[in-house]
Amino acid sequence: MSSQTENMPAGKQIVMSGIRPTGYLHLGNYFGAMQNYVKMQEQFECYFMVADLHSLTTHPDTKELRENVKRVFAENIACGLDPDKVAFYCQSHIHETAELYLYLNMMAYKGELEKTTTFKDKVRLQPENVNAGLLTYPVLQTADIILHRAKYVPVGKDQEQHLEMARTFANRFNHRYGDVFPEPVAFNFGGELVKVPSLDGTGKMSKSENQNATIYLSDAEDVIKKKVMKAKTDAGPTEPNAAKPDYIENLFQLMRLVSSPDTLQKFEDDFNTCNIRYGDMKKQLGEDIAAFTAPIREKAAAIQSDEVYLKKVMLQGAEKARISAQKTIELTREAMGLNYFAPTP
Ligand code: TRP
Repeated sequence: MSSQTENMPAGKQIVMSGIRPTGYLHLGNYFGAMQNYVKMQEQFECYFMVADLHSLTTHPDTKELRENVKRVFAENIACGLDPDKVAFYCQSHIHETAELYLYLNMMAYKGELEKTTTFKDKVRLQPENVNAGLLTYPVLQTADIILHRAKYVPVGKDQEQHLEMARTFANRFNHRYGDVFPEPVAFNFGGELVKVPSLDGTGKMSKSENQNATIYLSDAEDVIKKKVMKAKTDAGPTEPNAAKPDYIENLFQLMRLVSSPDTLQKFEDDFNTCNIRYGDMKKQLGEDIAAFTAPIREKAAAIQSDEVYLKKVMLQGAEKARISAQKTIELTREAMGLNYFAPTP
């Protein structure tokens, strides 16, 4: 079982996810991850964490991290994540994570870690820095998740293998020392994640690929408009109600996400009657995306410059996360038999 859960049991289930503090949030993150988080915070006990320790495996220099961590907090809150409803915290603030990571490292084998796709990718990308943290990245991720005994992990497909490993390590622990951890599974609200296509007509929006085909929430209005105007189009359909090529369908899909139903309908009709002017459509789409992201961008900028507020949020998040973390560590030590003066069972 790797994703989706149709029959959710009653009671408040525990949700946990981590956000890497590299790069800027883009529209794909917004409609994929963020909207999902925002819906989940209403119904679940949520732990959302900024994975600063994970980023040390690839970015040992912490100068950039400082701003990146703050920006991730600011952008996520601007997107609707409510620090009063969830525990929104920074990974390095919860020392219990390190302890659990250490225990889990004793039951993660070198062979299985070396087979991880992300590890193999990183070995290729940074042959001069193949550190043990990189190798045990999935162990740290497991610690993040099971530290709250979370069951649901809202992540995209790229994290499937890490989640599979988290299940392996959690099960291995339970088998060796007794049941402490539920098996974490990928979970997305309402099934499939919304697809946000890239502007270059290939695949989905992503921060690692073509920067010009990705709209960041922090992009200024003129930047957004320029990016959209560059999207690939053609001379238009030659017969009524034709099928749309992928790169055109992508533009319509983006319009579905940000434009009004009337606007969308107008361009659908224009397409179906062979009257479409892609220049007009892209102009409209650029304006609608810009109008959509402007309030988020402004809110994020305001939060990011408010150090007092940010600090308060991080402390509050850590306090909440620590309560659940400490309980889990207690159970873990107990299960492992590390509480030497407790009465023997
Ligand atoms: N590895 C995840 C990523 O690259 C980030 C992450 C760290 C994470 N810890 C996590 C995701 C725990 C889910 C649960 O995006």
